[in-house]
Amino acid sequence: MGQALLQTIDLKLSFGAVVVADNINFSLQQGERLAVIGQNGAGKTTFINICTGLIRPQSGKVLFDGNEITGLAPRVIVKRGMARSFQLPQLFLEHTVRDCVRLAAAGRIGRLGLWNSLAQSVSNAEIDHVLEMVGLSARADELSELLPEGHRKLLDIAMALVLKPKLLVLDEPTSGVSTDEKHGLMATIMAALDEQKITAIFVEHDVDIVTRYATRVAAWISGRVAADGTPTEVLNDPEIRKNVIGE
Ligand SMILES: Nc1ncnc2c1ncn2[C@@H]1O[C@H](COP(=O)(O)OP(=O)(O)OP(=O)(O)O)[C@@H](O)[C@H]1O
Ligand SMILES: [Mg+2]
Repeated sequence: MGQALLQTIDLKLSFGAVVVADNINFSLQQGERLAVIGQNGAGKTTFINICTGLIRPQSGKVLFDGNEITGLAPRVIVKRGMARSFQLPQLFLEHTVRDCVRLAAAGRIGRLGLWNSLAQSVSNAEIDHVLEMVGLSARADELSELLPEGHRKLLDIAMALVLKPKLLVLDEPTSGVSTDEKHGLMATIMAALDEQKITAIFVEHDVDIVTRYATRVAAWISGRVAADGTPTEVLNDPEIRKNVIGE
């Protein structure tokens, strides 16, 4: 195995008496499609927030591409090559789909206060390509607040893809979307990741989706990684079946 793309060392964080990161030692290799599973409140989003710089751990380190990134600002971590999407899409609701992607791309180049001028420096071709990858070309000129939930999810992901990440972390990309739509949504996302050769972590509650799209699964219980292995190994682990999948 080569150098890990993402590695955490002894990550610890509590909110009051609740331990949300309980000594997390974890590493991810380039090219993996890792599903993170775990019940509500297990600490999945917190783990993502620590890795992407939104929350500082009380102790421990995060390394990305061999360099320590613990405590760096989210914007700086994006520049290093890690982007994310959110459990609840974070869009510029009063803007069109195209402008949401343009504004997100501007964040890649410059500082917030310069967005308006910098927004002009991202090519239309680049934006069109990202929208095409997520299947939103036909809705490019619609206001993002008018999109149905599945399309909002895809737009949030397009806004991460335009940042040209090496690693994309997707927090529940299929939540809020009907069961029928989930597979189509994931197929679209995975095709975009394949095309851009992006490594990915995705938080997911649906076992069918995990089985179909993950190359590896990590199961969180109360802030610790309780199991980590192939989908078959983890999804058949008795502790995981009982305490995570709920059988
Ligand atoms: N900023 C915060 N302050 C206090 N407690 C928090 C904060 N953020 C999260 N928590 C608590 O930490 C625990 C872990 O939350 P987290 O959002 O990481 O869970 P999760 O595994 O993503 O759950 P879900 O599946 O519901 O999204 C929960 O008990 C949550 O209430
Ligand atoms: Mg969460």
